[in-house]
Amino acid sequence: MTTSGENTTLLPFNTFGIDVKAARIREVRTVQELQQALKSIRPPVLILGGGSNILFTHDWPGTVILNRIRGIEQVRRFKNRVWVRIGAGEVWHQFVEWAVRHQLGGVENLSLIPGLVGAAPVQNIGAYGVELKDIFIRLEAIEMATGKRRVFNRKQCRFGYRESIFKHTAKGKYCITTVTLSLSTDQHQLRTEYGAIQQTLDEMGIGNPGIADISRAVMQIRSSKLPDPARIGNCGSFFKNPEVGIEVLERIREHHPAVPHYPLPDQRVKIPAGWLIEQCGWKGKRVGNTGCYDKQALVLVNYGGATGSEVRQLAHDIIDSVAERFGIRLEPEVNIL
Ligand code: EPU
Repeated sequence: MTTSGENTTLLPFNTFGIDVKAARIREVRTVQELQQALKSIRPPVLILGGGSNILFTHDWPGTVILNRIRGIEQVRRFKNRVWVRIGAGEVWHQFVEWAVRHQLGGVENLSLIPGLVGAAPVQNIGAYGVELKDIFIRLEAIEMATGKRRVFNRKQCRFGYRESIFKHTAKGKYCITTVTLSLSTDQHQLRTEYGAIQQTLDEMGIGNPGIADISRAVMQIRSSKLPDPARIGNCGSFFKNPEVGIEVLERIREHHPAVPHYPLPDQRVKIPAGWLIEQCGWKGKRVGNTGCYDKQALVLVNYGGATGSEVRQLAHDIIDSVAERFGIRLEPEVNIL
């Protein structure tokens, strides 16, 4: 069944579970349907995948296109690798399961990330030591103003930490239709160095892990820390982990010798935003229908019936209190509309 309609609630289409309306909503299943739709729709246009990184604070006055272009194809084979082209409307985790089932390596650390494949390059999804850019080959997109097809390679996507050109100069201009990734067919380079993975594998009694074991370990870690959006509305990490100069770390260390941090090039460090937020007393705190999740302070949640403005207000209050206490301004990772 295809979804389309006027003045339709977006509640089922965003994992925060915010009840706003779209003037029009249109589902597309093929590139041709998308091109056809772009000719006739009412602006402004919003392309929505799984709605897992978006906070709606008002009704959408134009058309929402639900990208449901599907399909998984092996397009090129090499000695130890294969290029796989995935429709942007595939569910990301279902694709990961497909890869694990076919013994293809590279995405197992990215298990259970909510959302659809088309959104993965927009914010260069990452978890447990792996980022999408590490395996990315290219994506195909349709330019919304012209309906023309365009290909972006890795360099053109300008990936960074939860960043790409699609959050900057290309924002709102393209609809991603397929993503091509390079996966390993043997001699997989397993990434187990992220502390929690090794610890979970040890707890599971696995000494010589394969792709499927890592996927299972990641799923276990994620489900123990992150709320299931089907039960409690959320968008995963609400903020990015701030990258600061070493002098900022030294200043924090005077009062908090055990502040966690990860080294970056150029004398900079990344400090977990979850730690900063927890230190300010927000972890597990509920404010009206929204709150800061009790198992991971980086996640803001909707306990039911929260509005986008309520969540945004909580986010601002957290930003202000972290800035006041630590002199660091957190930036949202979630797209606030
Ligand atoms: N921490 C706290 N209190 C908290 C949460 C975290 O003190 O409430 C500290 C702990 O020291 C912990 C450290 O922060 O060891 C790191 O926490 P965690 O491993 O949970 O990772 P994160 O830095 O909070 C990032 C990503 C997640 C990703 C994990 C694992 C960002 C913004 N978030 O979170 O991505 O799953 O690492 O790789 O980079 C997402 O983007 O939506 C997301 C869930």
